[in-house]
Amino acid sequence: MTARVFLNGQWLAPRDANVSVMDRGFLFGDGVYEVIPVYSRRPFRLEQHLSRLQHSLDGIQLTNPYRLDQWTGFVTQLAREAEWEDQSIYIQVTRGPMAVRNHAFPKQVAPTAVILAEAMQTPPESQREQGIAAVSAADIRWLRCDLKATSLLANCLLRQMAVAAGCVETVLFRDGFLTEGSASSIFVVKDGVLLAPIKNHLMLPGITYDVVLELAAQHGLAHEVRDITEAETRGADELWMCSSTKEVLPIVTLDGRKVGVGTPGPAFAQMYAWYQEFKATVMRAPA
Ligand code: PDD
Repeated sequence: MTARVFLNGQWLAPRDANVSVMDRGFLFGDGVYEVIPVYSRRPFRLEQHLSRLQHSLDGIQLTNPYRLDQWTGFVTQLAREAEWEDQSIYIQVTRGPMAVRNHAFPKQVAPTAVILAEAMQTPPESQREQGIAAVSAADIRWLRCDLKATSLLANCLLRQMAVAAGCVETVLFRDGFLTEGSASSIFVVKDGVLLAPIKNHLMLPGITYDVVLELAAQHGLAHEVRDITEAETRGADELWMCSSTKEVLPIVTLDGRKVGVGTPGPAFAQMYAWYQEFKATVMRAPA
């Protein structure tokens, strides 16, 4: 973690950044968050992340404690000061402390806002070159998966299923349709067409998901945004996972069975190259 973290308007040493045990974020998971990748000290898609933060805050009826320009200032400052060139910046806003434990919102809300940075942990090269293994599971989460809420117990249990099976991600199906991964968006490639599930209340509107679709459009890769069945997912030529911290990774086995021929596919290789090129032009251009 960074030498300084942001807590409610102050920059503090981590050990001085304390939150009450009565904080609703701690007791109820009553809060929302963002994870913003930073390349060469430049926050990637900051505006989109902050706009999704606003969507999540609206969804839980919590007033944003800061204006957009204030958030932009805080994040940019941290990205400039943190120990690493490439970082992952974490924002969390909870409904703050309450006097007595009560599910209903307190009358006077004093949100707890935290921003901290960690070194960017890019996936090992082997995962990109050889692909990763995934398991599948029923999507047991709630019906507001479009909100990036800190109450992530279901996601944690689902991710742990993958880890227990020696895999990287758990691909989720709800009522016979693909939703997403435990902490990633999932894409299918079939017969040269990139398929993406529709952004709705059953999945997080991924920022990386948007980048992947934009790159597909820009480079003329055929793509469709539509409901994707479990059978289509299992019969995919290629399966990808993507997120701010993992970028794009090929899934080569699902529940122990090969996806396509069982190696990273040509569409993935292309998307990965486009993604890196995009990052390089946007993030490494002279300031
Ligand atoms: N998670 N879906 C879920 C459930 C996620 O948790 C994430 C990312 C994504 C991908 O979204 P984006 O491309 O905007 O990162 C999709 C972050 C990285 C996390 O919880 O740490």
